[in-house]
Amino acid sequence: AAVRVRVPASTANLGPGFDALGMALDLYARIEMSEADRTQIELFGSNMQGIPTDKTNLIYKVAGTLYHHAGLPMPELSIRMDSDIPLTRGLGSSASAIVGALAAANALSGADLPPDELFQIASGMEKHPDNVGASLFGGIIAAYWDGHEAKHVRIEPHERLEALVAVPAFQLSTEHARRVLPDQVPMKDAVFNIGHSSLLVAALAAGELGMIRHAMKDALHQPYRAALVPGMEKILREAADHGALGAALSGAGPTLIAFADKSEGRQEELEAFLRETFRAEGIEAETRWLRPS
Ligand code: HSE
Repeated sequence: AAVRVRVPASTANLGPGFDALGMALDLYARIEMSEADRTQIELFGSNMQGIPTDKTNLIYKVAGTLYHHAGLPMPELSIRMDSDIPLTRGLGSSASAIVGALAAANALSGADLPPDELFQIASGMEKHPDNVGASLFGGIIAAYWDGHEAKHVRIEPHERLEALVAVPAFQLSTEHARRVLPDQVPMKDAVFNIGHSSLLVAALAAGELGMIRHAMKDALHQPYRAALVPGMEKILREAADHGALGAALSGAGPTLIAFADKSEGRQEELEAFLRETFRAEGIEAETRWLRPS
C-alpha cells in the first residue's frame, strides 16, 4: 500500500528568533511512497528542475535514514512528489522534503517513531530546528536544537494573522546566507534579540497582534544578510507604515515576509509596497497571501 503525506512550507526566524522560531504556511509539498521491486522516483511540478531522481535524491536518502534509525532493512521504493513550495527561496522547501520523507517512511515501515523523535532526526539533518519543526508540527513553534536534542512548544496562530510573502526571482542558498554571518556578536546585540524574540513569542502566544510591531526586530542575522537581498532594508524599515504588523527576511531569504491583521484591510497597499520596492531594485517579485497552517 502507498503512504501519502502533505507537508506545509515554513518561514523561519520571524525576525529576531534566529534558528528558534518557525511558522507553517498553507503552501504544500505532497509525497507518495510505497515499496517497489526497483527504486523509482518521479517529480511533478515546475519547481523540480535539477533535482536528482536516482538514489541520491534527498527523499530517498532521508527515508533510508529513517529505516536505518528504526533498525529496519531499506527496501526499494517508489516515490512520487509534487510541490508548490518554491525552491531555495527561504520557504523551507528542503525542510518540507525532509519532514515528508521521514513521515512517509515512518508510516510505510511501520517503525511508528513518535513525532518528537522525527523532530530530532530532522533537526540534525537541517542543523536548525525552525523550518522542520514548523513543517512537522504546524502552527508556530519556538524551539531549540543543541546538536543532540530538539525541544519545542507549539503556539496556535491567531485567526486574524495572515502573511504576505514576496518571492524574488532569484535563488539564495541557505549555505551562502549563513556564511555571511559573523562567528561572534556583541553582547548588546544578543540581549537585543533575546528581548525582542521573547516579546514576539509572548505576543504570539497571548494573541496580542499589536505588540508584534515592536517585537519583529533583529540584530543577529538580517543586518548581515541585507546586502544579499536588495530592497530588504527598506521593506523591514517601512512595511509597518503600509499596514504590516512586522516584516522579516523569511528564513535565509531571499523571500521577504510581512504579517498583517486581516481585519485592518490594508492588504493591497502592503502588497504594492513590497512589489514596488523590489521593482525599484530591478527585481521582479511574486507576491502571495498565505495563512499560517
Ligand atoms: N534559521 C535558518 C537561517 C533558516 O536563518 O539560516 C534557514 O532555512
